[in-house]
Amino acid sequence: MRRIGIGLIGTGFMGRSHAMAWHAAATFSGDIQPVLVSVADIDGAAAERTARQFGFQRWTQEWQQLIDDPEVEVISITSPNRFHAEQALAAIAAGKHVHCEKPLAPDASLAARMTAAAEQAGVQTQVGFNYVKNPLLKLARQMIADGELGEISGFRGIHAEDFMTSPQLPWSWRLDPAGGAGAVADLGSHILGMARFLLGPIEALFADLDTVVKQRPEAAGSSVMKAVEVDDIARLTVRFARGCRGQIEANWVATGHKMQLGFEITGSKGSLIFNQERFNELQFYRSGDQEQQNGFRTLVAGPEHPPYGLFCPAPGHQIGFNDLKTIEMLEFLQAIRTGERSGPDFREALEIQKLVDAALVSSREQRWVTL
Ligand SMILES: NC(=O)c1ccc[n+]([C@@H]2O[C@H](COP(=O)([O-])OP(=O)(O)OC[C@H]3O[C@@H](n4cnc5c(N)ncnc54)[C@H](O)[C@@H]3O)[C@@H](O)[C@H]2O)c1
Repeated sequence: MRRIGIGLIGTGFMGRSHAMAWHAAATFSGDIQPVLVSVADIDGAAAERTARQFGFQRWTQEWQQLIDDPEVEVISITSPNRFHAEQALAAIAAGKHVHCEKPLAPDASLAARMTAAAEQAGVQTQVGFNYVKNPLLKLARQMIADGELGEISGFRGIHAEDFMTSPQLPWSWRLDPAGGAGAVADLGSHILGMARFLLGPIEALFADLDTVVKQRPEAAGSSVMKAVEVDDIARLTVRFARGCRGQIEANWVATGHKMQLGFEITGSKGSLIFNQERFNELQFYRSGDQEQQNGFRTLVAGPEHPPYGLFCPAPGHQIGFNDLKTIEMLEFLQAIRTGERSGPDFREALEIQKLVDAALVSSREQRWVTL
Protein backbone atom coordinates (compact mmCIF):
# COMPACT_ATOMS: atom_id res chain seq x y z
CA MET A 1 0.00 0.00 0.00
CA ARG A 2 1.39 3.39 -1.03
CA ARG A 3 0.19 6.39 0.95
CA ILE A 4 0.36 9.68 -0.91
CA GLY A 5 0.08 13.00 0.93
CA ILE A 6 -2.24 15.69 -0.49
CA GLY A 7 -1.74 19.43 0.04
CA LEU A 8 -4.72 21.57 -0.98
CA ILE A 9 -4.43 25.28 -1.85
CA GLY A 10 -7.72 27.22 -1.66
CA THR A 11 -10.92 26.36 0.18
CA GLY A 12 -13.66 27.97 -1.93
CA PHE A 13 -16.09 26.25 -4.31
CA MET A 14 -13.37 24.13 -5.90
CA GLY A 15 -11.27 23.67 -2.75
CA ARG A 16 -14.17 21.96 -1.05
CA SER A 17 -14.91 19.91 -4.15
CA HIS A 18 -11.27 18.75 -4.27
CA ALA A 19 -11.31 17.89 -0.56
CA MET A 20 -14.46 15.78 -1.02
CA ALA A 21 -13.06 14.14 -4.14
CA TRP A 22 -9.72 13.19 -2.57
CA HIS A 23 -11.64 11.79 0.38
CA ALA A 24 -13.97 9.73 -1.83
CA ALA A 25 -11.14 8.64 -4.13
CA ALA A 26 -9.50 6.87 -1.16
CA THR A 27 -12.45 4.46 -1.13
CA PHE A 28 -11.73 3.26 -4.66
CA SER A 29 -8.02 3.85 -5.22
CA GLY A 30 -6.79 0.48 -3.98
CA ASP A 31 -3.09 0.27 -3.35
CA ILE A 32 -2.45 4.01 -3.69
CA GLN A 33 -4.17 5.83 -0.85
CA PRO A 34 -4.50 9.63 -0.78
CA VAL A 35 -4.05 11.14 2.69
CA LEU A 36 -5.30 14.69 3.39
CA VAL A 37 -2.14 16.18 4.94
CA SER A 38 -2.45 19.96 4.82
CA VAL A 39 -4.68 22.76 3.51
CA ALA A 40 -3.70 26.39 2.81
CA ASP A 41 -5.80 29.49 2.27
CA ILE A 42 -4.97 33.19 2.65
CA ASP A 43 -8.12 33.23 4.79
CA GLY A 44 -6.84 31.40 7.88
CA ALA A 45 -10.30 30.85 9.38
CA ALA A 46 -11.43 29.16 6.16
CA ALA A 47 -8.32 26.96 6.12
CA GLU A 48 -8.90 25.92 9.73
CA ARG A 49 -12.59 25.22 9.11
CA THR A 50 -11.81 23.15 6.02
CA ALA A 51 -9.10 21.19 7.84
CA ARG A 52 -11.55 20.34 10.62
CA GLN A 53 -14.44 19.53 8.30
CA PHE A 54 -12.56 17.30 5.87
CA GLY A 55 -9.95 15.81 8.20
CA PHE A 56 -6.71 17.47 7.02
CA GLN A 57 -3.94 16.91 9.57
CA ARG A 58 -2.89 20.58 9.54
CA TRP A 59 -3.70 23.97 7.99
CA THR A 60 -1.80 27.14 7.14
CA GLN A 61 -2.27 30.61 5.69
CA GLU A 62 0.91 30.23 3.66
CA TRP A 63 0.73 27.91 0.68
CA GLN A 64 4.57 27.78 0.56
CA GLN A 65 4.43 25.64 3.71
CA LEU A 66 2.73 22.92 1.65
CA ILE A 67 5.57 23.03 -0.86
CA ASP A 68 8.13 22.64 1.95
CA ASP A 69 6.15 19.86 3.66
CA PRO A 70 7.93 16.51 3.06
CA GLU A 71 4.69 14.61 3.73
CA VAL A 72 2.94 16.36 0.82
CA GLU A 73 3.52 14.63 -2.54
CA VAL A 74 0.61 16.11 -4.51
CA ILE A 75 -0.39 19.78 -4.62
CA SER A 76 -4.03 20.46 -5.51
CA ILE A 77 -4.38 24.08 -6.67
CA THR A 78 -7.80 25.77 -6.39
CA SER A 79 -6.73 29.39 -5.93
CA PRO A 80 -7.80 32.18 -8.32
CA ASN A 81 -6.29 31.88 -11.80
CA ARG A 82 -3.50 34.41 -11.45
CA PHE A 83 -1.83 32.37 -8.68
CA HIS A 84 -1.81 29.03 -10.54
CA ALA A 85 1.54 29.48 -12.31
CA GLU A 86 3.54 30.61 -9.29
CA GLN A 87 2.11 27.87 -7.08
CA ALA A 88 2.44 25.11 -9.68
CA LEU A 89 5.99 26.07 -10.63
CA ALA A 90 7.03 26.05 -6.95
CA ALA A 91 5.42 22.63 -6.47
CA ILE A 92 7.09 21.22 -9.58
CA ALA A 93 10.48 22.60 -8.52
CA ALA A 94 10.01 20.69 -5.26
CA GLY A 95 9.31 17.49 -7.25
CA LYS A 96 5.61 17.29 -6.38
CA HIS A 97 2.79 16.12 -8.66
CA VAL A 98 0.31 18.89 -9.42
CA HIS A 99 -3.43 18.98 -9.93
CA CYS A 100 -4.40 22.50 -10.99
CA GLU A 101 -7.79 24.02 -11.63
CA LYS A 102 -8.65 25.41 -15.03
CA PRO A 103 -7.83 27.64 -16.78
CA LEU A 104 -4.23 26.54 -16.27
CA ALA A 105 -2.74 30.03 -16.59
CA PRO A 106 -3.56 33.58 -17.66
CA ASP A 107 -1.98 32.98 -21.08
CA ALA A 108 -0.39 30.31 -23.23
CA SER A 109 3.20 31.43 -22.69
CA LEU A 110 2.87 30.87 -18.92
CA ALA A 111 1.01 27.62 -19.54
CA ALA A 112 3.89 26.53 -21.80
CA ARG A 113 6.41 27.29 -19.05
CA MET A 114 4.40 25.25 -16.57
CA THR A 115 4.09 22.37 -19.03
CA ALA A 116 7.81 22.37 -19.84
CA ALA A 117 8.74 22.51 -16.16
CA ALA A 118 6.47 19.58 -15.30
CA GLU A 119 7.68 17.45 -18.19
CA GLN A 120 11.33 18.18 -17.38
CA ALA A 121 10.80 17.33 -13.71
CA GLY A 122 8.93 14.14 -14.66
CA VAL A 123 6.00 14.88 -12.34
CA GLN A 124 2.40 14.01 -13.17
CA THR A 125 -0.10 16.79 -13.84
CA GLN A 126 -3.85 17.08 -14.20
CA VAL A 127 -6.11 20.05 -14.87
CA GLY A 128 -9.68 20.37 -13.57
CA PHE A 129 -11.67 19.72 -16.73
CA ASN A 130 -13.99 17.51 -14.67
CA TYR A 131 -16.88 17.48 -17.16
CA VAL A 132 -15.04 15.24 -19.62
CA LYS A 133 -14.74 12.64 -16.85
CA ASN A 134 -18.45 11.90 -17.33
CA PRO A 135 -18.84 8.21 -18.31
CA LEU A 136 -21.34 9.23 -21.02
CA LEU A 137 -18.83 11.67 -22.53
CA LYS A 138 -16.42 8.74 -22.84
CA LEU A 139 -19.22 6.81 -24.54
CA ALA A 140 -19.89 9.74 -26.91
CA ARG A 141 -16.21 9.92 -27.82
CA GLN A 142 -16.12 6.18 -28.46
CA MET A 143 -19.28 6.33 -30.61
CA ILE A 144 -17.74 9.09 -32.73
CA ALA A 145 -14.42 7.20 -33.05
CA ASP A 146 -16.30 4.01 -34.02
CA GLY A 147 -18.09 5.88 -36.82
CA GLU A 148 -21.58 5.53 -35.34
CA LEU A 149 -22.36 9.09 -36.39
CA GLY A 150 -20.70 8.67 -39.78
CA GLU A 151 -18.81 11.64 -41.18
CA ILE A 152 -19.07 14.52 -38.70
CA SER A 153 -20.55 17.62 -40.31
CA GLY A 154 -20.98 20.01 -37.43
CA PHE A 155 -20.45 20.87 -33.76
CA ARG A 156 -22.50 23.37 -31.79
CA GLY A 157 -21.12 23.84 -28.29
CA ILE A 158 -22.09 26.13 -25.46
CA HIS A 159 -21.17 26.82 -21.88
CA ALA A 160 -23.65 29.33 -20.55
CA GLU A 161 -24.37 30.30 -16.95
CA ASP A 162 -25.89 33.41 -15.40
CA PHE A 163 -23.86 34.01 -12.25
CA MET A 164 -22.39 37.29 -13.58
CA THR A 165 -25.65 38.75 -14.91
CA SER A 166 -26.40 41.26 -12.14
CA PRO A 167 -24.54 44.57 -12.63
CA GLN A 168 -24.59 44.85 -8.81
CA LEU A 169 -22.30 41.85 -8.48
CA PRO A 170 -19.01 43.39 -7.35
CA TRP A 171 -15.68 43.18 -9.10
CA SER A 172 -13.86 39.94 -8.22
CA TRP A 173 -10.83 37.83 -9.17
CA ARG A 174 -12.78 36.47 -12.16
CA LEU A 175 -12.62 39.96 -13.72
CA ASP A 176 -8.94 40.50 -12.93
CA PRO A 177 -7.10 40.79 -16.27
CA ALA A 178 -3.94 39.59 -14.47
CA GLY A 179 -5.74 36.22 -14.32
CA GLY A 180 -6.41 36.18 -18.07
CA ALA A 181 -9.59 36.53 -20.12
CA GLY A 182 -13.20 36.47 -18.87
CA ALA A 183 -15.95 34.05 -19.89
CA VAL A 184 -13.90 32.66 -22.77
CA ALA A 185 -11.25 31.46 -20.31
CA ASP A 186 -13.51 30.60 -17.37
CA LEU A 187 -16.30 28.75 -19.22
CA GLY A 188 -14.91 28.68 -22.74
CA SER A 189 -11.98 26.54 -21.62
CA HIS A 190 -14.46 23.82 -20.57
CA ILE A 191 -16.39 23.71 -23.85
CA LEU A 192 -13.24 24.10 -25.97
CA GLY A 193 -11.68 21.22 -24.02
CA MET A 194 -14.85 19.16 -24.51
CA ALA A 195 -14.81 19.89 -28.26
CA ARG A 196 -11.19 18.71 -28.44
CA PHE A 197 -12.00 15.65 -26.32
CA LEU A 198 -14.76 14.60 -28.73
CA LEU A 199 -13.52 15.72 -32.13
CA GLY A 200 -9.80 16.44 -31.82
CA PRO A 201 -7.78 19.58 -32.48
CA ILE A 202 -9.21 22.91 -33.63
CA GLU A 203 -6.97 24.42 -36.29
CA ALA A 204 -8.53 27.86 -36.82
CA LEU A 205 -11.10 30.13 -35.25
CA PHE A 206 -12.87 33.45 -35.58
CA ALA A 207 -14.07 35.03 -32.34
CA ASP A 208 -16.27 37.91 -31.29
CA LEU A 209 -15.95 38.84 -27.60
CA ASP A 210 -18.39 41.12 -25.86
CA THR A 211 -18.38 42.86 -22.47
CA VAL A 212 -22.02 43.33 -21.48
CA VAL A 213 -21.61 44.76 -17.96
CA LYS A 214 -19.08 47.52 -18.51
CA GLN A 215 -18.47 48.43 -14.86
CA ARG A 216 -19.11 46.93 -11.46
CA PRO A 217 -18.93 48.10 -7.83
CA GLU A 218 -15.31 47.70 -6.72
CA ALA A 219 -16.53 45.87 -3.59
CA ALA A 220 -19.87 44.66 -2.26
CA GLY A 221 -22.09 47.65 -1.41
CA SER A 222 -19.56 50.23 -2.71
CA SER A 223 -20.71 53.11 -4.93
CA VAL A 224 -17.23 53.33 -6.46
CA MET A 225 -17.36 51.66 -9.86
CA LYS A 226 -14.54 49.78 -11.53
CA ALA A 227 -14.29 49.21 -15.30
CA VAL A 228 -14.65 45.62 -16.53
CA GLU A 229 -11.83 44.77 -18.94
CA VAL A 230 -12.67 41.14 -19.75
CA ASP A 231 -15.40 39.50 -21.85
CA ASP A 232 -18.84 38.37 -20.62
CA ILE A 233 -19.73 36.54 -23.84
CA ALA A 234 -17.50 34.91 -26.46
CA ARG A 235 -18.90 33.68 -29.77
CA LEU A 236 -16.56 31.54 -31.83
CA THR A 237 -16.67 29.92 -35.25
CA VAL A 238 -14.16 27.06 -35.30
CA ARG A 239 -12.59 24.74 -37.86
CA PHE A 240 -11.50 21.32 -36.64
CA ALA A 241 -8.38 19.67 -38.07
CA ARG A 242 -10.58 16.67 -39.04
CA GLY A 243 -12.41 18.93 -41.50
CA CYS A 244 -15.73 19.79 -39.89
CA ARG A 245 -16.70 23.19 -38.56
CA GLY A 246 -18.53 24.39 -35.56
CA GLN A 247 -19.81 27.16 -33.36
CA ILE A 248 -19.00 27.65 -29.70
CA GLU A 249 -20.35 30.12 -27.17
CA ALA A 250 -19.11 30.94 -23.68
CA ASN A 251 -21.43 33.16 -21.70
CA TRP A 252 -21.63 34.00 -17.98
CA VAL A 253 -24.55 36.48 -18.31
CA ALA A 254 -27.02 33.99 -19.85
CA THR A 255 -30.01 34.82 -17.67
CA GLY A 256 -31.76 31.70 -16.40
CA HIS A 257 -29.08 29.25 -17.43
CA LYS A 258 -27.35 27.64 -14.46
CA MET A 259 -25.17 25.03 -16.17
CA GLN A 260 -25.89 24.93 -19.88
CA LEU A 261 -22.69 23.17 -20.84
CA GLY A 262 -23.57 21.15 -23.87
CA PHE A 263 -23.17 20.25 -27.48
CA GLU A 264 -24.91 18.99 -30.58
CA ILE A 265 -22.84 16.92 -32.96
CA THR A 266 -24.28 16.02 -36.33
CA GLY A 267 -22.93 13.37 -38.66
CA SER A 268 -23.91 11.67 -41.90
CA LYS A 269 -25.38 8.68 -40.02
CA GLY A 270 -26.43 10.10 -36.69
CA SER A 271 -26.35 12.86 -34.09
CA LEU A 272 -25.70 13.33 -30.39
CA ILE A 273 -27.04 15.96 -28.01
CA PHE A 274 -25.72 16.55 -24.49
CA ASN A 275 -26.54 19.02 -21.73
CA GLN A 276 -24.66 19.05 -18.41
CA GLU A 277 -27.88 19.91 -16.52
CA ARG A 278 -28.99 16.36 -17.36
CA PHE A 279 -25.55 14.83 -17.57
CA ASN A 280 -26.61 11.24 -16.94
CA GLU A 281 -28.34 11.29 -20.31
CA LEU A 282 -27.19 11.41 -23.90
CA GLN A 283 -29.60 11.97 -26.79
CA PHE A 284 -28.81 9.80 -29.80
CA TYR A 285 -30.35 9.76 -33.26
CA ARG A 286 -29.35 7.23 -35.91
CA SER A 287 -30.59 7.66 -39.49
CA GLY A 288 -32.73 4.81 -40.75
CA ASP A 289 -33.29 3.33 -37.29
CA GLN A 290 -36.59 4.91 -36.62
CA GLU A 291 -38.35 5.25 -39.95
CA GLN A 292 -41.79 4.87 -38.38
CA GLN A 293 -40.94 6.78 -35.21
CA ASN A 294 -38.64 9.69 -35.89
CA GLY A 295 -36.71 11.32 -33.09
CA PHE A 296 -33.84 11.11 -30.68
CA ARG A 297 -33.71 8.41 -28.03
CA THR A 298 -32.27 8.83 -24.57
CA LEU A 299 -29.26 6.78 -23.52
CA VAL A 300 -29.19 6.55 -19.72
CA ALA A 301 -25.97 6.23 -17.70
CA GLY A 302 -25.46 2.96 -15.87
CA PRO A 303 -22.79 0.56 -14.62
CA GLU A 304 -22.11 -0.49 -18.22
CA HIS A 305 -20.48 2.94 -18.61
CA PRO A 306 -17.38 2.79 -16.40
CA PRO A 307 -16.71 3.99 -13.82
CA TYR A 308 -20.40 4.72 -13.04
CA GLY A 309 -20.56 1.31 -11.36
CA LEU A 310 -18.12 2.42 -8.66
CA PHE A 311 -20.76 4.79 -7.37
CA CYS A 312 -23.96 2.87 -8.00
CA PRO A 313 -24.83 -0.67 -9.17
CA ALA A 314 -28.10 0.38 -10.81
CA PRO A 315 -28.64 2.33 -14.06
CA GLY A 316 -30.61 5.57 -14.15
CA HIS A 317 -29.94 6.40 -10.48
CA GLN A 318 -27.45 9.11 -11.60
CA ILE A 319 -24.06 10.27 -10.42
CA GLY A 320 -23.36 13.90 -9.46
CA PHE A 321 -20.92 16.77 -10.00
CA ASN A 322 -18.59 15.80 -7.15
CA ASP A 323 -18.46 12.23 -8.47
CA LEU A 324 -16.93 13.61 -11.69
CA LYS A 325 -14.26 15.24 -9.52
CA THR A 326 -13.70 11.93 -7.74
CA ILE A 327 -13.20 10.17 -11.10
CA GLU A 328 -10.70 12.89 -12.01
CA MET A 329 -8.69 12.30 -8.81
CA LEU A 330 -8.86 8.53 -9.26
CA GLU A 331 -7.47 8.76 -12.79
CA PHE A 332 -4.76 11.14 -11.56
CA LEU A 333 -3.78 8.70 -8.80
CA GLN A 334 -3.53 5.92 -11.39
CA ALA A 335 -1.28 8.14 -13.52
CA ILE A 336 0.98 8.68 -10.51
CA ARG A 337 1.00 4.94 -9.77
CA THR A 338 1.73 3.84 -13.34
CA GLY A 339 3.74 6.83 -14.57
CA GLU A 340 1.49 7.02 -17.63
CA ARG A 341 -0.13 10.28 -18.76
CA SER A 342 -3.75 10.86 -17.82
CA GLY A 343 -5.63 13.64 -19.50
CA PRO A 344 -6.36 16.43 -19.47
CA ASP A 345 -2.87 17.21 -18.18
CA PHE A 346 -0.84 20.44 -18.44
CA ARG A 347 0.00 19.70 -22.11
CA GLU A 348 -3.68 19.38 -23.02
CA ALA A 349 -4.54 22.48 -20.95
CA LEU A 350 -1.84 24.37 -22.85
CA GLU A 351 -3.55 23.48 -26.14
CA ILE A 352 -6.85 24.73 -24.73
CA GLN A 353 -5.16 27.92 -23.51
CA LYS A 354 -3.79 28.53 -27.01
CA LEU A 355 -7.39 28.54 -28.27
CA VAL A 356 -8.41 31.04 -25.59
CA ASP A 357 -5.47 33.29 -26.54
CA ALA A 358 -6.36 32.92 -30.23
CA ALA A 359 -9.93 34.02 -29.47
CA LEU A 360 -8.63 37.21 -27.85
CA VAL A 361 -6.43 38.00 -30.86
CA SER A 362 -9.19 37.15 -33.33
CA SER A 363 -11.74 39.36 -31.61
CA ARG A 364 -9.32 42.26 -31.16
CA GLU A 365 -8.11 42.14 -34.76
CA GLN A 366 -11.43 40.95 -36.28
CA ARG A 367 -9.83 38.14 -38.29
CA TRP A 368 -9.48 34.35 -38.48
CA VAL A 369 -6.57 32.99 -36.43
CA THR A 370 -4.86 29.75 -37.41
CA LEU A 371 -3.35 27.69 -34.62
N1 LIG B 1 -13.50 22.68 -12.63
C1 LIG B 1 -14.58 23.39 -12.39
O1 LIG B 1 -15.69 22.98 -12.72
C2 LIG B 1 -14.44 24.73 -11.71
C3 LIG B 1 -15.54 25.37 -11.13
C4 LIG B 1 -15.33 26.57 -10.47
C5 LIG B 1 -14.07 27.14 -10.39
N2 LIG B 1 -13.02 26.50 -11.00
C6 LIG B 1 -11.65 27.05 -10.91
O2 LIG B 1 -11.19 26.86 -9.58
C7 LIG B 1 -10.40 27.97 -9.15
C8 LIG B 1 -11.02 28.55 -7.90
O3 LIG B 1 -12.36 28.90 -8.16
P1 LIG B 1 -13.44 28.92 -6.97
O4 LIG B 1 -14.77 29.07 -7.64
O5 LIG B 1 -13.20 27.79 -6.05
O6 LIG B 1 -13.05 30.29 -6.28
P2 LIG B 1 -13.44 30.79 -4.82
O7 LIG B 1 -13.36 32.27 -4.87
O8 LIG B 1 -14.68 30.12 -4.34
O9 LIG B 1 -12.23 30.21 -3.92
C9 LIG B 1 -10.91 30.65 -4.06
C10 LIG B 1 -10.19 30.36 -2.73
O10 LIG B 1 -8.80 30.66 -2.88
C11 LIG B 1 -8.37 31.42 -1.74
N3 LIG B 1 -7.21 32.20 -2.16
C12 LIG B 1 -7.18 33.38 -2.80
N4 LIG B 1 -5.90 33.72 -3.07
C13 LIG B 1 -5.12 32.73 -2.59
C14 LIG B 1 -3.72 32.49 -2.57
N5 LIG B 1 -2.87 33.37 -3.11
N6 LIG B 1 -3.26 31.37 -1.99
C15 LIG B 1 -4.12 30.50 -1.41
N7 LIG B 1 -5.47 30.65 -1.42
C16 LIG B 1 -5.95 31.76 -2.01
C17 LIG B 1 -9.60 32.24 -1.35
O11 LIG B 1 -9.50 32.68 0.00
C18 LIG B 1 -10.71 31.22 -1.58
O12 LIG B 1 -10.89 30.38 -0.45
C19 LIG B 1 -10.35 28.91 -10.35
O13 LIG B 1 -9.19 28.66 -11.10
C20 LIG B 1 -11.58 28.55 -11.16
O14 LIG B 1 -11.46 28.85 -12.54
C21 LIG B 1 -13.18 25.30 -11.62
